[in-house]
Amino acid sequence: MSESATARVEHVRDDALAALARTESTEDLEAWRIAFLGRRGHLTGLLRAVGSLPPDQRRAAGEAANSAKSDLESALAERVDALAAGEGLNTGQDGAIDVTLPGWPAPVGGLHPTTLIVREICDAFNSMGFQVVEGPEVEWDHYNFEMLNIPKDHPARDMWNTLWLDYEDEAGETPMLLRTHTSPMQARIMEEQEPPVRVVVPGKCYRYEATDATHEWHFFQIEGLAVDRGITFADLKGTLYEFARLVFGQERRVRFRCDYFPFVEPGVDMSIDCFACAGDGCRICGETGWIEIMGAGMVHPKVLEGVGYDPNIYTGFAFGMGPERIAMLKYGIDDIRLFYANDLRFLSQF
Ligand code: DAH
Repeated sequence: MSESATARVEHVRDDALAALARTESTEDLEAWRIAFLGRRGHLTGLLRAVGSLPPDQRRAAGEAANSAKSDLESALAERVDALAAGEGLNTGQDGAIDVTLPGWPAPVGGLHPTTLIVREICDAFNSMGFQVVEGPEVEWDHYNFEMLNIPKDHPARDMWNTLWLDYEDEAGETPMLLRTHTSPMQARIMEEQEPPVRVVVPGKCYRYEATDATHEWHFFQIEGLAVDRGITFADLKGTLYEFARLVFGQERRVRFRCDYFPFVEPGVDMSIDCFACAGDGCRICGETGWIEIMGAGMVHPKVLEGVGYDPNIYTGFAFGMGPERIAMLKYGIDDIRLFYANDLRFLSQF
């Protein structure tokens, strides 16, 4: 850059500073930034031209252009602060502070859709006498599997493949994992207290899973457990029916079908009649008229024995559901991955 090129840098710098002093708003600032510091901005152009100067001039010219650049950047930062301070104080046209002008609305956050639905579901069970309890996301194999009647070589473990922790106990085993469901809290709670037990357990779970529109590798579950003298399958049905009506509408009907989970006997899956088509069959219910919303069953005697409850005296029911899936149904969300993609366009709709 010749003498005149260095002078050009000075020139651009002075112009830029003068223009910056005239900016009044965020839009002005952005336009200014683009004009001088943007990819095709005046100063950027000069910086780029340094490379094509004769070698003996490059150094001085580069230094001049770079120092102008950092001057402009710090001037911009100062101007941003100055304008922000002025705006915050509600300056009137002449720049004087007018405390009677209305304030600038601050952007207010909202609750995450998962939080909203978890609260709604827990509130529904709360109204039926269930307490809300939370548990550890890092769990022992012992609680995640063994205490739930899923021994080491049990094929049902395939249903709950997960992420193991690189941790060994004294026996050289690696028994810690990211919990695959919230069911382990069943045993933890029963070990700690005598019946009656009525709890719901919301919390995060993890699985070694390929993700798609209906599968995430991390998600929430809400576990439920009720144990007392004389609890029957009719209590399970009544409680879950009431839940479905509270969350999905008073006109809901429910259906229970046999299913297998090692920690319940008998085990069921519960469906509600499709609220979109009222059971006629549509895209949401896969043309069946029914939507599966959770697994449930009568607590297996082995699980009760494992925690020291006498299965001849006590019986109970348990259930587990995925709140994101419930939210997807309720709010018409078609991809579970949206929940944790942190896209404000999605999140701000709730
Ligand atoms: N833990 C089960 C799962 O992750 C869900 C479940 C099914 C929980 C049946 C229960 C139950 O308590 O009784 O698939």
